[in-house]
Amino acid sequence: MEYISVRGGRKLQGEVSLCGAKNSILPLLCATILVEGKTVFDNCPNLSDVRLSCKILNTLGVQAQLCGKKITCINKGSIKGGVSHEMMSGMRSSITFLGPLLAKNGRVRMYYPGGCKLGERPVDIHIEIMKALGAVCSSNGDEIEFEAADGLRGADITLRFPSVGATENAIMAACTAKGKTKIIGAAREPEIRDLIDYLCKCGAAILTEEDGTISIDGVKELRGTKHSVIPDRILAATVMSAVCVAGGRVHVRGAVCGDMVSIFKRFKKAGAEIEIQENGFWISMTKTPRKISQTICAPHPFFPTDAGPLLAAVLAYSDKKSEIYDSVFENRFFFAKELEKFGFVAKSNGRTLCTARGETLDCARVMATDLRAGAALVCAALAITGQTKVFGAEHIDRGYEALEELLRSLGADTWRQEEYDERLSK
Ligand code: UD1
Repeated sequence: MEYISVRGGRKLQGEVSLCGAKNSILPLLCATILVEGKTVFDNCPNLSDVRLSCKILNTLGVQAQLCGKKITCINKGSIKGGVSHEMMSGMRSSITFLGPLLAKNGRVRMYYPGGCKLGERPVDIHIEIMKALGAVCSSNGDEIEFEAADGLRGADITLRFPSVGATENAIMAACTAKGKTKIIGAAREPEIRDLIDYLCKCGAAILTEEDGTISIDGVKELRGTKHSVIPDRILAATVMSAVCVAGGRVHVRGAVCGDMVSIFKRFKKAGAEIEIQENGFWISMTKTPRKISQTICAPHPFFPTDAGPLLAAVLAYSDKKSEIYDSVFENRFFFAKELEKFGFVAKSNGRTLCTARGETLDCARVMATDLRAGAALVCAALAITGQTKVFGAEHIDRGYEALEELLRSLGADTWRQEEYDERLSK
């Protein structure tokens, strides 16, 4: 069994250059279904989810090839039906293939992506959007089929919640629909802006109004282009969490600081010093983290849910109690019991985490229950002496190229190792 070994106690220093955002490249890859010709994405992260998305594209008929930081996608115009159950269940975000496949072929059959450790994660908003755009939808419980025999038609759509994936699906489905679409109550994450930028470069007519409403004029076709993926703000938050726990001073290169205002505010409140520069920022931490009585994770521009566990790893070191509430996912803090194994006080009902430093902290064997929980456990161990083993490294690999190498480049003692499991040999 693979785990990440952390021997804490070393301060961090040096420089990190951010790679492209996972949450940008995944929908961008889906969008190539709509874009004929050649697209070259630059600044791509080499992640397991990205490799799976390329594999899905290849089975659908788009040649997608990852080479270094570039992904080249060639779409010759003909796209096959749906996404297999195996691939759909491998990655929650495979639901964002729905909009482009339906727009391209006028019909699509997909398996439900299913829930995950973070919560139920229904797809009702995605379904309502496709219906509003003129698709007829039927389901047999496991699979769901959409049909728009005469193609999709533009419509005014109001989202009951600013779902990131549903907004992306709506944008992609409406791009080549007949007529105008308005998406009211859309998500405003920077990754949505990146998708819109790419599609506009390909010929789409999309405008984001001041109140966040997205207006789309359907166009006949989209043509391939070059696009550089925006830097990963959650990777930046991970480095911030690591520095706040371990202490030290690190330069985070490439960050779009304007997209990180809510993240900076919280980490400053916890005691970090942040110097913003033109192309990134410096973060330093010279004291014990301070408590933050209350933090609410909510859709952009508020503090992101994906950074909740990373902030929790820092606040767990304060001797006074902090509370974090996640308004997006009901089980975001499912991993509280893993924090307790180090000796932290960490009480959670899933959505809310109350945390503080315990009397004594000790290294532990812990399990990454999901991607950000895993990264948070690695960060949390950076100030604890002895060897911590964070199992479930495959969850961490969904969002980080090699988290242990990145932290090691800053001076941390973090390695990927194997543990022989006797049960497997029986
Ligand atoms: C995306 C991000 C993920 C991030 C999340 C919230 C990607 C690949 N993933 O996930 O890292 O944590 O945004 O910022 O970009 N919901 C419904 N019905 C729906 C759709 C969503 O009830 O049809 C609910 C979900 O259960 C969840 C909430 O809305 O509680 C937010 O989900 P959503 O914004 O859709 O997240 P994702 O797009 O899946």
